[in-house]
Amino acid sequence: MTASNEPSAHPSGNASSEGPSVPIHLRPARDGDVPALVPLLLRLKRLNEEFDPLLKVREDADEQARHLLHANLADPKAVVLAAEGVGADKDKVVGVVRAIVRERPFYVPEFEGVILDIYLLPLYRRRGVGEYLLREVSAALKAKGAGVVTAEFPSQNEIASRFYQKRGFRPITAIHARSL
Ligand SMILES: CC(C)(COP(=O)(O)OP(=O)(O)OC[C@H]1O[C@@H](n2cnc3c(N)ncnc32)[C@H](O)[C@@H]1OP(=O)(O)O)[C@@H](O)C(=O)NCCC(=O)NCCS
Repeated sequence: MTASNEPSAHPSGNASSEGPSVPIHLRPARDGDVPALVPLLLRLKRLNEEFDPLLKVREDADEQARHLLHANLADPKAVVLAAEGVGADKDKVVGVVRAIVRERPFYVPEFEGVILDIYLLPLYRRRGVGEYLLREVSAALKAKGAGVVTAEFPSQNEIASRFYQKRGFRPITAIHARSL
């Protein structure tokens, strides 16, 4: 999977309707990527912590992320895609999307593809790469039987909220919390 038909050496330029102007190479993640994926997931969780104190990151979060990623990579219901950079970032993982197909016992479509995490290093943002990741992960989830795609993210995460809203997502359920 290549994000652009016209790769450029520098991560610059404006987004076009044909794809992201920052070329990335998107591919299924493998076990060898886990050390590179863990810091990306942790960056995302720490960002979420900034949005909400009830999302305080655990001290052993990196170990948890490692276990979770290995489990996902062995799970046929999960999709983990790694985005590799270009130019100086060639062969470097600059983004990740993690999703899972989950059964909906009471509703149709019976299976939903849930996007659990999506993260891009700042240099790669706002150039359509996220949209490309979303398109590709949606296709992978559909291929695994999902009839609807959902995204889980903190309510206070404005970036995620706007990103998904712009792509036609709307809230259908909400998780409300209070400390005990
Ligand atoms: C969410 C993310 C993957 C989107 O990737 P992207 O390449 O920036 O997205 P695109 O270029 O395809 O789309 C950009 C749109 O996303 C939204 N967006 C992205 N960054 C934003 C920001 N800092 N503030 C507000 N909206 C933002 C906007 O709707 C934006 O459209 P606009 O540029 O016309 O305003 C990326 O911004 C990211 O990694 N953010 C930090 C992690 C995160 O919050 N992940 C989601 C929670 S799981």
